[in-house]
Amino acid sequence: MSYNVKVQRVLVADAVDASCVDLLKKNGIEVDCKYKLPKDQLIVEIPKYDALIVRSDTKVTADVIEAGKKLKVIGRAGAGVDNIDINAATSKNILVLNTPGGNAISACELTCSLITTLARNVVPGAASLKAGRWDRKLYSGHELYGKTLAILGLGRIGREVAIRMQAWGMKTIGYDPIVPAEDARKFNVEALTLEQIWPQADYITVHTPLIPETRNLICEAVLNKCRKGVRIVNVARGGIINEVDLLNALKSGQCGGAALDVFEQEPPTDPVTLELIQQNQVVATPHLGASTAEAQVRVAVEISEQIIALTGRSQEYTA
Ligand code: NAD
Ligand code: MLT
Repeated sequence: MSYNVKVQRVLVADAVDASCVDLLKKNGIEVDCKYKLPKDQLIVEIPKYDALIVRSDTKVTADVIEAGKKLKVIGRAGAGVDNIDINAATSKNILVLNTPGGNAISACELTCSLITTLARNVVPGAASLKAGRWDRKLYSGHELYGKTLAILGLGRIGREVAIRMQAWGMKTIGYDPIVPAEDARKFNVEALTLEQIWPQADYITVHTPLIPETRNLICEAVLNKCRKGVRIVNVARGGIINEVDLLNALKSGQCGGAALDVFEQEPPTDPVTLELIQQNQVVATPHLGASTAEAQVRVAVEISEQIIALTGRSQEYTA
């Protein structure tokens, strides 16, 4: 299928790898990079552009879309499109593109490192040594070998996490409403219902989109059904884990630790989130799942290739 969408001028509004701009320019498309524009300035700028490329910082809300009188394409150099008002874009016949998969290995690798970090108290142990203490007893951990990892969402990232954590000797169980049990078995995940999962899991890692069905998936009622000391990992989206309930479970000891790369609000300013981040048993990172050199080149090239393909031009880029 060939397309002929007229894209002459593109605004790159978040810091996307330079290969994106290079590739667009090599294909005769004019590109401006204007990062961290406040919304009112974005609304002033957007009417000049046929396409907009973002990562997760820029919120492409209905009023931004409304102001984009020439806008034909919104491209997300990443997996989720949560920061784009899809309904507003659709109502104006604007195409929304993303790059699912381009950063999956990076998000998976961060998840696996957070699981191992939680098991061995690496972050508090390292911080204590840097502060001049030698607290060997305080930071004794446990082995992952023989423990059960529950993976909620067995898509691109969830299944890669399963494969890697099996190498540590973890038993992998999981739930995904659209992945049949026989498919899950192919990557050695035992598909169970959520009610079966809660009492079995030593670790729970979430890899779902944030949709109404997954908002507050991990909440007080669920945490109370889990083993005491269960550890929770979220490298997917803020909101899948209820932050108030997680904080209370950490304080009571029902939850033994949490690793969080994503938050309800980013950057976090809510007092509950800030208190959560400060807990000793919490390892928190500032949405770094996709932040690797490799993933950023991949998503940058993928998003520009998609835009070039829409224009009907052939790509003239060799990485
Ligand atoms: P994917 O679409 O490949 O997989 C998501 C899976 O979740 C699908 O198989 C879907 O069926 C399943 N799912 C949907 N509803 C569910 C439910 N109620 N319970 C259990 N499973 C459910 O997505 P992916 O590429 O694996 O990404 C997973 C998440 O990670 C997304 O939220 C994505 O935005 C996020 N992500 C975060 C980072 C980061 O930087 N932290 C990087 C990449 C992706
Ligand atoms: C994604 O959806 O791809 C991630 O959250 C990573 C990012 O925002 O770059």
